[in-house]
Amino acid sequence: MAYLKNTWYVAALSTEVGADELFHRKILGTSVLMYRKQDGTAVAMRDRCPHRFAPLHLGKKIGDEIVCHYHALQFDCSGQCTHNPHGEGNIPKAAKVQTFPLQERYGFIWIWMGDKAADPGLLPDYSPLDDGPPTGVGHTYMHMRANYELIIDNVMDLSHIDHVHGEIISTRGQLSPIVPQVRETENSVFARWEWKQTPPILVLAGFLPHPEKEARHFFDVTWMPPANIQLSVGGAQGDTPFEQGVGAYDLHTTTPETETSTHYFFATRRNHNIHDADFNAMKLQAMRDAFEKEDGPIIYGVQEEMETTDFFSLNPVLMSNDVAAVRARRLLARLIAKEEEGAGGSAAPAARTAAA
Ligand code: FES
Ligand SMILES: [Fe+2]
Repeated sequence: MAYLKNTWYVAALSTEVGADELFHRKILGTSVLMYRKQDGTAVAMRDRCPHRFAPLHLGKKIGDEIVCHYHALQFDCSGQCTHNPHGEGNIPKAAKVQTFPLQERYGFIWIWMGDKAADPGLLPDYSPLDDGPPTGVGHTYMHMRANYELIIDNVMDLSHIDHVHGEIISTRGQLSPIVPQVRETENSVFARWEWKQTPPILVLAGFLPHPEKEARHFFDVTWMPPANIQLSVGGAQGDTPFEQGVGAYDLHTTTPETETSTHYFFATRRNHNIHDADFNAMKLQAMRDAFEKEDGPIIYGVQEEMETTDFFSLNPVLMSNDVAAVRARRLLARLIAKEEEGAGGSAAPAARTAAA
């Protein structure tokens, strides 16, 4: 399967890669080892020894270097072999491990899997996640048994909320009839829904002045390649503008593990009750439950039934609620095709870019 390569994907939560352990995860079908140098900087390399292909995460860390568990070749964090305990200790020229550029931002470690020079400027700005106390933000990771684009579709089309999710984020039937405003640029797709409901969305209601009365709400989502969606939700009552209402700023981002499995990362920063650590933990768990127990089963069912990752080849029925998700799919397909052409490969199959 073709992925966009010369771009940043989240490889791990910052908290997943500790000071001592050798963390490993398959990303875009490639096994990657991550660990921290003694100064705390995270590094990533292929999780495979060039000798007999032992996973390097089974080895150990000595200073900033990794020792393979099988025959003890040692590698520095540039992937260069620095020690061979066998024979005369010559270091074979090919004893080098591929490394991957990382940058650590917004509570995540982002990885560059492409062959072009890593461009830090291509990482979108998610700095609102950093803006406030640690008790006002949560980060989490979920493993999903589905292609990453099915998860993007699910967030770009929030009309599923009232059908799939429970009381906590119900819009009481208001969302589905709305055709969102959609805007597209050369590297983003934006959608916005606005509506009124009584009572307000439960997760926000308790922080509004009149928890039982009508509130105005909005959702907006901005997808940027390869698989990042910034989602804002807000509520306000009376004449209060949305900017002074209650709300949250979320990042949904997915990283393909394989064609049909995905690392799903999520972060949420709210503007209310920001010093309450217990509420913070409870809210994050509630969001995880919604994704894993409510979105998960339907997305897994879709993936199994599709038996392919080529969505458009199945001639899906498309409705007004699909506009943003379909635009994101098409834009991603165009970017992948362009990257492959640039690399001398063939363009993506016509079905992937065909008008739906
Ligand atoms: S497999 Fe790593 S040193 Fe032999
Ligand atoms: Fe959902």
